Amino acid sequence: MREGAERLSAADIDGARIDARLLLAEAINKDTSYLFGYPEKEVSSENWVSFQEMISRRIAREPVSRIVGCREFWSLNFNISPETLDPRPDSETLISATLELLEDKTQPLKILDLGTGSGCLLLALLSELPNATGLGVDINQAATEVAALNADNLSLGHRAQFQIGNWCEGLSNEWDIIISNPPYIGQHEKSELEPEVLDYDPPSALFADDKGMKDYRTLIPQAAMILRVGGLLVVEAGKGQSDEINSVMTDAKLVCKAAIKDLGGVKRACVASKVSEQIV
Ligand SMILES: C[S@@+](CC[C@H](N)C(=O)[O-])C[C@H]1O[C@@H](n2cnc3c(N)ncnc32)[C@H](O)[C@@H]1O
Repeated sequence: MREGAERLSAADIDGARIDARLLLAEAINKDTSYLFGYPEKEVSSENWVSFQEMISRRIAREPVSRIVGCREFWSLNFNISPETLDPRPDSETLISATLELLEDKTQPLKILDLGTGSGCLLLALLSELPNATGLGVDINQAATEVAALNADNLSLGHRAQFQIGNWCEGLSNEWDIIISNPPYIGQHEKSELEPEVLDYDPPSALFADDKGMKDYRTLIPQAAMILRVGGLLVVEAGKGQSDEINSVMTDAKLVCKAAIKDLGGVKRACVASKVSEQIV
């Protein structure tokens, strides 16, 4: 573990010790706690080679989650693939914001997740709302397949469906909660991204035209049409985008309820409700 951490530190990788620990645990196919519990165990030569290969991939700036093929989100384990975004801790703000606004968590709510990726938002909500059901939509078929696998692994497959789609096209008017983390990075911000993001997250999950606003402008009015009266729209915002998103929501005749900050102080979750069946 020390040798792996030294190789990572020498390559200026942040969090070298943590990454080395996670990768060694993966190489020997055990939990990280095993490394502390059995320090006297020797690593087989086969596992040693595999560990060194993983360290080399990390030095090439591949994220640990991509190397091991999964990521924890809302304390649940999600498989990821090259076609899915690596779920971010900041997105958990959308889950806590939604749950906080629901007075009765036992209702048979219908939840729509637009741009579902690994399915992390929908499945995290379903894990907290025992009688809710949901649909995750993504333009990328391979992503919907990963999301469906995650639903089965989390024993939520009976309450979650996934399908290919272009935002709300073809969907009917029945949703209590619509949640979305759309692509929102402007093309002009590309040069500021770390290689872990730029080289490993799918570009179609990251970038949107119109300084990152294009997909909000498309999906928010569509979502307003198919939300039921009294329903909630919860949308992830990039840094500095919440005011513009709120005005798109207001234009769509939704009532903005909150812009909830993430742990870094960024207004991350824009929440609006539909108060009447107005023509939008
Ligand atoms: C930022 S990722 C979010 C993934 C996941 N919800 C999460 O929070 O980790 C955006 C997702 O939107 C999908 N997407 C992009 N354009 C879309 C469209 N027109 N219709 C549906 N999904 C789209 C991408 O394939 C990607 O999975």
